[in-house]
Amino acid sequence: SRKRQVDETLSSFKLSQEQLQLVKARMRAGLEAGLKSKGPSAIKMLPSFVYHTPDGTENGKYLALDLGGTNFRAMLVNFKKSLQQNVRLYHKIYTIPLEIMQGTGEELFDHLAQCIGDFLDYMGMKNARLPAGFTFSFPCEQTAIDTGTLVSWTKGFKATNCEGHDVVSMLREAIKRRNEFELDIAAVVNDTVGTMMSCAYEDPQCEIGLIAGTGTNVCYMEEVKNIEKTELQKGKPEKFKGTPDGEQDEVEELSQGAAEMLKMCVNTEWGGLGDDGSLDDIITPYDTEVDQNSVNPGKQRFEKLTSGMYLGEIVRQVLLDLTRGGLLFRGHVTETLKTPGIFQTKYLSQIESDRLALLQVRSILQQLGLNSNCDDSIIVKEVCGAVSRRAAQLCGAGMAAVVDKIRENRGLDHLNITVGVDGALYKLHPHFSGVLQKTTKALAPRCDVTFLPSEEGSGKGAALITAVARKKKEI
Ligand code: BG6
Ligand code: GLC
Repeated sequence: SRKRQVDETLSSFKLSQEQLQLVKARMRAGLEAGLKSKGPSAIKMLPSFVYHTPDGTENGKYLALDLGGTNFRAMLVNFKKSLQQNVRLYHKIYTIPLEIMQGTGEELFDHLAQCIGDFLDYMGMKNARLPAGFTFSFPCEQTAIDTGTLVSWTKGFKATNCEGHDVVSMLREAIKRRNEFELDIAAVVNDTVGTMMSCAYEDPQCEIGLIAGTGTNVCYMEEVKNIEKTELQKGKPEKFKGTPDGEQDEVEELSQGAAEMLKMCVNTEWGGLGDDGSLDDIITPYDTEVDQNSVNPGKQRFEKLTSGMYLGEIVRQVLLDLTRGGLLFRGHVTETLKTPGIFQTKYLSQIESDRLALLQVRSILQQLGLNSNCDDSIIVKEVCGAVSRRAAQLCGAGMAAVVDKIRENRGLDHLNITVGVDGALYKLHPHFSGVLQKTTKALAPRCDVTFLPSEEGSGKGAALITAVARKKKEI
């Protein structure tokens, strides 16, 4: 029957507890390998040079720039020490056109400089030379808080001449070319790190940051002694090794601080799990198709099973297959169905909403250009459900690996910890967060994990990091 055939197709998205345990174990092995390896590893485990979560003494006005999610955001963050933890935020959102995402690096950074100029105009702050924090949500190899070399683009970006270059220098140069305003870029941070810091300002138990949005990624506070691939364990960042006499003060300050530098936030880049083939047993032909059609085939395999940019594409591949098999849309493969990107996260979220009657599902499909009957709409909803449920379970399995690692690091039987979270998939999807939490609990029963959605995105966190970086410089 039709139902049986559909069920059979969707069974490849069902994961057993054993399979999820395996994913957890592979994630754990990937985290360990990334911490050790000097060479490339599937999970990069990038040091962030952020040693502390906020302590509430941060003060002053900062600019926060945020590139890499759905939009580019410029934000002014004002921390007022006097009125306990009073934070004011002003922001503006800019879209990044596809031709800019995929043009030259110079064009991309010129565009950012233009948006920043517009924002400063809007705020009337063009002459302020504000300290700025740059949330740049791509893998960067850092040697200090204010430099980051882009390892590789992810999430559909492919601007030329950026990989292998320091993104802070690229932004500084674009601002110089514009010659309209000055900025003091003090920190570059991944969105996971910004999100963790943002949430840690509210909840000191927050030592993990999670993004479930366009892409997926996690950062967490790791023991410096475990980060074997750099010289960090000796208590001094590489930058200050063999520092000439003139910079003695800075070195002393750092070694005094060494006692407090026992932990560092690590940007895992967990989206790369499976790039060495370790997820091949759960990857379906639909996933392979999506991977092959992406701008980075073979890369970010875990991310391609779990994040907003790809879930709709997986759904589309399944619908195409079912339609070709005559099980859907009366066997008509329309141009619409052949169009990449039609199922954005917001549509998946609407289709899966339990409050929605099937007639409304049909009207959403209609809006997307797909004519459906009642049976079609039931099947479409099932397909979306199977794909998003697998995504949430996989994220939960990954999270279980992270929290158990932290628990073991600390020699605890039981760990209480908070995860700061952001991203449209987490925030908009009706079931993702629930399944994520349930799976984490089931696979890491000795951890109590609280998921705390970030209120204002990662910008506040980037500003907090900037505040600390600038305080260090003043001492
Ligand atoms: C935003 C954060 O709110 O969420 C960004 O400020 C982050 O830094 C983004 O990249 C992730 O969500 P999405 O869904 O836009 O990818
Ligand atoms: C991608 C990026 C990563 C980012 C994540 C979430 O995985 O490589 O740096 O944190 O998307 O935006």
